[in-house]
Amino acid sequence: MGAHLLEELIGALIYVLPAYVANGAPVVLVRAIGKARPLDLGRNFLDGRRILGDGKTFEGLGGGLLSGTLTGLVVSLLLPGTFRSALEPLALSSGAMLGDVLGSFAKRRIGIARGGPLPVVDQVGFLAAALLLTWSLFGPKEWSDAVTPLLFLVTALLHLGTNAGAYLLGLKERWY
Ligand code: CTP
Ligand code: MG
Repeated sequence: MGAHLLEELIGALIYVLPAYVANGAPVVLVRAIGKARPLDLGRNFLDGRRILGDGKTFEGLGGGLLSGTLTGLVVSLLLPGTFRSALEPLALSSGAMLGDVLGSFAKRRIGIARGGPLPVVDQVGFLAAALLLTWSLFGPKEWSDAVTPLLFLVTALLHLGTNAGAYLLGLKERWY
């Protein structure tokens, strides 16, 4: 990989940091507070299965949005010019949480229980939704064609790596 491409990839990783934090914070946060209320209020969908399941909560959603947006604020102070608008980190965080919720909705509809795996969607669904929402509001980020696919690849590997780490630390029940 060329030095320039690596530099662009690092820039892209910093840019999506609000989405990463929004996606990861609920796990730690909900564990810390103990009990959290499910977004679907415990209700079932037309198919008789939970709409979203117990893994999507108000506390997780609020905490994810807040911590992702605050992360964006810190990034903006350290590296001005990373975001085109002060609202961009909020869009990245909202998109990440929306993608996560949509992923759970889809998993429940195809019969995968809360916490069960849906490869690809589990690892990079939040990033796809974060970029789709943010780029439809602020326009796509200008970087080389290779950066976006690389960003997805690195995100998938980081997601698997941090999950395995959380499992080894006893924070998660499953390694994936
Ligand atoms: N979480 C939450 N609220 C959210 C997102 C995540 O409370 N909006 C917390 C839950 O404790 C959840 C954990 O973060 O168990 C990990 O998130 P995730 O892997 O997305 O949920 P799963 O439990 O795997 O459930 P699902 O199968 O629906 O993805
Ligand atoms: Mg999961």
